Amino acid sequence: MGSEDSISKKQECKMKYKLKILLLIVLTNILTIFIFAAPKSNFHHPTSRFSQIPVWDTTILLLKLNTTQEELILSRSQITDLQKQLKSSHSLVQQLLNQLNQPPQLNGATKSNFNDLLADLNYEAKLAIGPHKLPLGYNPRMGSDEIFSSVGGGCLKHKHSLSLYMSYKVGEDCPVDDVFAQTLMLKGCEPLPRRRCRPKSPANYIEPTPLPESLWSTPPDSSLIWDPYTCKNYTCLKERRNFPGSYDCKDCFYLQGREKTRWLWDKGGLDFGIDQVLAMKPKGTIRIGLDIGGGSGTFAARMKERNVTIVTTSMNFDGPFNSFIASRGLVPLHVSISQRFPFFENTLDIVHSMHVLSSWIPHTMLEFTLYDIYRILRPGGLFWLDRFFCSGSQLNATYVPMLDRVGFRKLRWNTGMKLDRGVKKNEWYFSALLEKPMT
Ligand SMILES: *[C@@H]1O[C@H](CO)[C@@H](O)[C@H](O)[C@H]1NC(C)=O
Ligand SMILES: *[C@@H]1O[C@H](CO)[C@@H](O)[C@H](O)[C@H]1NC(C)=O
Ligand SMILES: *[C@@H]1O[C@H](CO)[C@@H](O)[C@H](O)[C@H]1NC(C)=O
Ligand SMILES: *[C@@H]1O[C@H](CO)[C@@H](O)[C@H](O)[C@H]1NC(C)=O
Repeated sequence: MGSEDSISKKQECKMKYKLKILLLIVLTNILTIFIFAAPKSNFHHPTSRFSQIPVWDTTILLLKLNTTQEELILSRSQITDLQKQLKSSHSLVQQLLNQLNQPPQLNGATKSNFNDLLADLNYEAKLAIGPHKLPLGYNPRMGSDEIFSSVGGGCLKHKHSLSLYMSYKVGEDCPVDDVFAQTLMLKGCEPLPRRRCRPKSPANYIEPTPLPESLWSTPPDSSLIWDPYTCKNYTCLKERRNFPGSYDCKDCFYLQGREKTRWLWDKGGLDFGIDQVLAMKPKGTIRIGLDIGGGSGTFAARMKERNVTIVTTSMNFDGPFNSFIASRGLVPLHVSISQRFPFFENTLDIVHSMHVLSSWIPHTMLEFTLYDIYRILRPGGLFWLDRFFCSGSQLNATYVPMLDRVGFRKLRWNTGMKLDRGVKKNEWYFSALLEKPMT
């Protein structure tokens, strides 16, 4: 029996073991079926899926979930960073565009930058420049609720001089400082800010000579306050052609000399005649224009005799050119070649310039100036470039291509070698009559 018992016990054990294995197989299969049969929509929903998973797996899964979560958090913060960078570069671009398109909006950071620009200027200079608050209702047209007075970029490079210029007693006489002011302008502080003082009037000013006599008469000395140079009056300025010394436009104040004959004859060379130039266009269609660096205004005087109105820009180099031009009954404009011409595009019939636009002007600046002349001329308008001076090699290499580039059409072109006391050097003049194309 003992052996039988032990055999049956062994069989019982085997049976139990088999049963256990069977149970285990059934259980794992059920588990597998359960996992794979779980609805797909639940797959991305951790709680509904993992809450039914037996305990032994949850720790691993939680760990995995944790790392996934951490990765998710990390990439989320990276995306946020990228979005921030994008936003800041977007606002930077927006800012730049605003600066390009609009008058400066002085809020927050921009305001302090602008104040930095004006630092070291005296009170009156800062006050003149602004900002000046606009009354309500004027904002939309201006694109800002503030307005500033113009000053040239060079002003910020010469703040000490600008503050000196802006030092005066408000409401009283201005200092006599034309030469100082002009020096500042020539450094690119142009336009200068406005001042709240009165320039001195000449002590014995008399009414101007009437037209047309005024065109060719020298005004009385009493009409002038002119201090800075040796010549303090028109009598002296008229006579200085007889004295040694080199001055800009030395004989320009003497209207009975060379001035009287300028642009009257056309010999087919460098010097064109006004009538010949006007004849290039239908009669009467050249009516308004500009003479850049027009000395004492003789070009404008000759044009006025032909019913053409010319504005003459002139600096007061070595003489009171602006006062003299005005006394002739012509319009003087005290601007240097640094400044954008104060005319709207496509407006003028003619622009003339003699001696001034030449190789002394830095190339880039000259190119900007030529484009500005093109801008203000109307289609079919004339650009008379009178006696442009340069070296022989520059003529064809630099200036001819530059004029072509700007887009002028040549109507007349004459070159001539410059003679220095009868000796030929490789220095050239050219005179050109150019036209802004009709289309
Ligand atoms: C998951 O991470 C959190 C902190 O990020 C931690 O407190 C928690 O114990 C972690 N769980 C596991 C299961 O590692
Ligand atoms: C004009 O100025 C010169 C020197 O600049 C002087 O000798 C002359 O007396 C002045 N004439 C008048 C009328 O003021
Ligand atoms: C200028 O205009 C006036 C008045 O219209 C006229 O009498 C005169 O003949 C004109 N002069 C010339 C040169 O065209
Ligand atoms: C410039 O070029 C023209 C023709 O292209 C030539 O006739 C002239 O001699 C050149 N001028 C100089 C100064 O080199």
